[in-house]
Amino acid sequence: MGTARCVAVFLVLFIFTQSRAHGQSLGPEPVGRRPQAVETEKALQKTVTRFLLFPAERSPGCEIGWHRPGSLQECGFNSSRPLVLIIHGWSVDGVLESWVHQLVAALRTQPVNVGLADWLPLAHNHYAISVRSARLVGQEVAAVLRWLEESEDFSRSNVHLVGYSLGAHVSGFAGSSIGGKHKIGRITGLDAASPLFEGTSPSERLSPEDAVFVDAIHTFTREHMGLSVGIKQPIAHYDFYPNGGTFQPGCHFLDLYKHFAQHGLNAIPQTIKCAHERSVHLFIDSLLHEDMRSTGYQCSNMGSFSQGLCLNCKKGRCNSLGYHARQELRGKSKSLYLVTRAQAPFRVYHYQFKIQFTNQIEKPIEPIFTMSLVGTKEEMQQVPVTLGERITSNKTYSFLVTLGPDIGELVLIKLKWEHSAMWTNVWNTMQAIIPWGGESRSSSLVLKTIRAKAGETQQRMTFCLENEDDLLHPAQEKMFVRCEVNSKALKRKVR
Ligand SMILES: *[C@@H]1O[C@H](CO)[C@@H](O)[C@H](O)[C@H]1NC(C)=O
Ligand SMILES: *[C@@H]1O[C@H](CO)[C@@H](O)[C@H](O)[C@H]1NC(C)=O
Repeated sequence: MGTARCVAVFLVLFIFTQSRAHGQSLGPEPVGRRPQAVETEKALQKTVTRFLLFPAERSPGCEIGWHRPGSLQECGFNSSRPLVLIIHGWSVDGVLESWVHQLVAALRTQPVNVGLADWLPLAHNHYAISVRSARLVGQEVAAVLRWLEESEDFSRSNVHLVGYSLGAHVSGFAGSSIGGKHKIGRITGLDAASPLFEGTSPSERLSPEDAVFVDAIHTFTREHMGLSVGIKQPIAHYDFYPNGGTFQPGCHFLDLYKHFAQHGLNAIPQTIKCAHERSVHLFIDSLLHEDMRSTGYQCSNMGSFSQGLCLNCKKGRCNSLGYHARQELRGKSKSLYLVTRAQAPFRVYHYQFKIQFTNQIEKPIEPIFTMSLVGTKEEMQQVPVTLGERITSNKTYSFLVTLGPDIGELVLIKLKWEHSAMWTNVWNTMQAIIPWGGESRSSSLVLKTIRAKAGETQQRMTFCLENEDDLLHPAQEKMFVRCEVNSKALKRKVR
């Protein structure tokens, strides 16, 4: 964790020092000058941004624009299909990052026109200057969409902007500057940039106002000295926070060794970008593994999510992450949480377990459990369980367990209280001091039922001990089978 934090700090400071070198006063341009700037660009008949379409397999990109008559036909634009326009972010080296090509390829699996707004000349600059250019690029995107509307009768409602990092805010500026009665169909913000955007008003960044439907994936919001790379605050109708949004599995500094083997010296930027760019790869994954969609669940924070308290899909409280997100606007904006694997396919299955323990030992117990989960399709052995707190009284504990494979419907649970050195000592000491006659009720944890909820199927289940003995001893495994004993009454009691 510590080393991973160093990486984050390094990147944030890198961006920050660049911003500072050019003065913090270089914020986005004032709002009032927008329409004029667009008119100027149109008069020049040329934009700084190049708009490319990717019609055929492995095509390098075909430039379109009002300064190139006939370019739409030439570039294979099909006006009866939607347009997905990728917008890259701030650029360190002035070349397109490899994810752009991966995203183009993934989008080609869909019946859509795939485009790219290439604004590298402006993106390859000091960060604060690129931020200042973002509004202009957004206006150019809006101008191209208006041109498509005028020349092809192509509705902006068929447009989906996918912006990464600073490109997410470019998308927002496109949406807010397009003018007219109607909005752009959809904007997806992939780990939208935080520096100079966090905490600003909705008109200064990507916001739900900018399109009919706005979704965002936050993957690198870990803060240092009040700064982070990805924006923390909600900016969309549905804001997804995979693994809490702060950092991503598989991106730790220790993984640098693996990256070294793969990328040589390039491993350093690869590692730095890992969590930030994960937002893109989660989106790509949603296109390439359509049948393995990741579900996010509305929750107030990752702490509650980790207790399994948020696996609820009622009233639009859950949604699919990525391209196939349900474009539904019900009530307020929602922040959704989920766990992912460290690599594609990223999807996991989320389960909430609730166990009511009775601890009759005066000393609080900090147990380590493992659960073996037997499903109709597969069995997962020895899944570690941490309650995150000590067992002190007759309380119900709720926790989250995530599984990579699909085990089918859960039918059996084997719970084992793992031996820990500390506990063994307590156990032995107690056996020495207190003269028990065989098994005594005052000697261990008692539990009768385990209740479970599967997030992905929304199924609730109750499991009961197979035999009568409800005492749980260290190192002992207990078997729980499906039973549906007055779970309604239990639920009422617990909630
Ligand atoms: C344009 O898209 C429509 C709808 O997907 C499709 O039916 C049609 O064949 C496409 N036209 C060309 C020329 O590819
Ligand atoms: C837990 O429950 C048992 C049996 O119902 C009871 O004897 C015991 O006093 C309770 N302990 C606490 C801390 O409430």
